[in-house]
Amino acid sequence: MKRILFIFISLLVTQMTYAVPGTSISISTEKTDLILRVAQDNRLYQVYYGARLSNPEEYADISYEPKETRDGCMAFRGWEVAPGSGSETHFEPVIAITHNDGNPSTYLYYKSHLQYAVEGGVQTDIVLYDDQYPVEVILHYVAFTDENVIKTWKEIRHKEKKPVKLWRYASTILYFRNHEYYVTDFSGDWAKESQMSTQKLEFGKKVLESKMGCRTAIHTGPFFSLGIDEPAKENSGKVMMGTLAWSGNFQFTFEVDNLNHLRVIPSINPYASEYELNPHDTFVTPEFIFTLSENGMGEASRNIHDWARNYQLKNGKGSRLTLLNNWENTSFHFNEEILARLMYEARKLGVDMFLLDDGWFGNNHPRVHDDAGLGDWEVMKSKLPGGISGLIKAADEAGIKFGIWIEPEMVNPKSDLFEKHPDWAILFPNRKPYYHRNQLVLDMSNPDVQDYVFGVVDKILTENPTLSFFKWDCNTPITNIYSPYLKDRQHNLYIDHTLGVMNVFERVQAKYPDVQMMMCSSGGCRNDYNGLKYFGEYWCSDNSDAIERLFIQWGQSHFFPAKSMCAHVTGFVANPSKTVSVKFRLDVSSMCKLGFDLGLKKLTEDEIALCREGVANWKRLSPVILDGDQYRLVSPYEGNHMSVMYASKDKLSAVLFTYDINPRYHEFMYNVKLQGLDPQKIYTIKELNLMPGKKSNLPENGKSYSGDYLMKVGLNAFTERTLNSRMIELIAQ
Ligand code: DGJ
Repeated sequence: MKRILFIFISLLVTQMTYAVPGTSISISTEKTDLILRVAQDNRLYQVYYGARLSNPEEYADISYEPKETRDGCMAFRGWEVAPGSGSETHFEPVIAITHNDGNPSTYLYYKSHLQYAVEGGVQTDIVLYDDQYPVEVILHYVAFTDENVIKTWKEIRHKEKKPVKLWRYASTILYFRNHEYYVTDFSGDWAKESQMSTQKLEFGKKVLESKMGCRTAIHTGPFFSLGIDEPAKENSGKVMMGTLAWSGNFQFTFEVDNLNHLRVIPSINPYASEYELNPHDTFVTPEFIFTLSENGMGEASRNIHDWARNYQLKNGKGSRLTLLNNWENTSFHFNEEILARLMYEARKLGVDMFLLDDGWFGNNHPRVHDDAGLGDWEVMKSKLPGGISGLIKAADEAGIKFGIWIEPEMVNPKSDLFEKHPDWAILFPNRKPYYHRNQLVLDMSNPDVQDYVFGVVDKILTENPTLSFFKWDCNTPITNIYSPYLKDRQHNLYIDHTLGVMNVFERVQAKYPDVQMMMCSSGGCRNDYNGLKYFGEYWCSDNSDAIERLFIQWGQSHFFPAKSMCAHVTGFVANPSKTVSVKFRLDVSSMCKLGFDLGLKKLTEDEIALCREGVANWKRLSPVILDGDQYRLVSPYEGNHMSVMYASKDKLSAVLFTYDINPRYHEFMYNVKLQGLDPQKIYTIKELNLMPGKKSNLPENGKSYSGDYLMKVGLNAFTERTLNSRMIELIAQ
């Protein structure tokens, strides 16, 4: 009650507050408190981040201010919220500026702050200033009350006479004082995204970062979990999870100091990016989104999923289109006749849309292979004489929507675009070019290039206003790192390029808010919450092998709701010695946003009937799968099986998926214990997605059990059969 009154009073006072030393500023959600304090030296310190405290009056008693010992050493240096370079903290600064006189130090003092209600929570803006230089830094925090998520970023500006050089510009810093720390990263490679591995943090630094420019998440995603006092677990223990909303180079620094305090610093990667900031311009850091749970990663993930659907993900509350894509099926080899047939196959499957992939454009340099045509966004007349409008007409006739693939940020040297504008590509003037997939990245720091890229989308949509969907790809990291446009400001390239990409996303969103888009980067090599403001979904991986996908989808589900994760049933099997049934593939894809990428000619009539039924089941249950709470029940990393489930928010309906990956001979089977149900309610069990003519052999099929039983005893759903899977519906009576 005291707390509600406290928040209420702060919200009434929406004018700027000038706090006296000793004042605490609380950034609070329903279950967590981040408490900052203006200390005696008029600088701002973090004094607490943890489970919510009941009495705001006691904030003042937490003693986390700097303390000096008698010999003049700092026994405890204080957890400064914006430690600057050259200050007495001695550890990694979050802000570093070389001023016009060459002085590289920054000390920031508290000036004022403001707290006010925003959608979903409370925003706090804190103004800091340097007492020796005309530099101002504004810290922003939005605390999302119900989701227990905090989003933070900062603005940096100055009024020096000439540009200053920023060489550290982290989004924030968070401090922990615990016995042990364990970081889980989601690293991997192309077609092997988001593999989880955990390490203990000891004295010194651990850095997770990308220097790839645009295809940023090839080797690791911009997200991590932090197990506090013990390795992060699924359903118990204290865990913090964080992600940086930035589609460029990122860096997470975890630094354990000599007092065993941990500093977590999320940032744009400062690598080769000493940024020149003009007087009066504002440098805005990316948002860092984080949550803290006392009940493990499962709850932390649900916090992030809810936050994303409610506030960040494009069309977060809307539905999604099921689709048939043609890339894995035809690659570049198609014509109008083949596409028309695929559209009818899409209709036969019951999906909403046909998505035409790469290979539809280029005339002087036809895109028949990945070595030519990128940049020339004119329909290839020899292949598709009826143009995009002809394809949309064919889709109309088949009774489905039509979407198309683009990769407008890139160029093949063999293209009209490159011949006309060689200076639009990021490319060294004096070195042999290094190509990744035979292509180059367009220089998005150049406003003319931004106009051109926006123009690609604008032209297609102006000419084809009923086009429903774009798959926006990005298949190379930045190579040959030189911008012909930036000339002597090369160090701004990585950041200005990313800002240029965002600017185009923003313009597309503003003009075409209803067009749905899939973010793709050679699979899941660009998946972040900056991009997802503009894209409602992303392609998780080019590896669509169902077994590999279980691991990839498990990993990515830690940060992204099923609604945003595209999973397609394809014909790809990574290990040809394994037989992976269409049923198994269908069930693996059904745990995310379902799609297909195969030709029906390769399937039997029974398999087609199964897929049709699978699409119908998925559509009927998509409110549960896409908008419900996800529970990761059995990890593929722990053994030979995997299971996840979704429960609707009202607990009236749930969907359980189980997968037997590699069961052992006569293995003892554990029951799958469900979560998130109402213990009092009675649920009827129904196995779905069965091959025509096949009956369920799930022992509990057709029976009814209380939520209590299902969560304590569970279902006998795993089997000894290799690559067997189940999709099970639970309906409350
Ligand atoms: C990479 C994507 O991940 C694939 O799905 C496909 O769109 C190809 N690019 C096309 O070049």
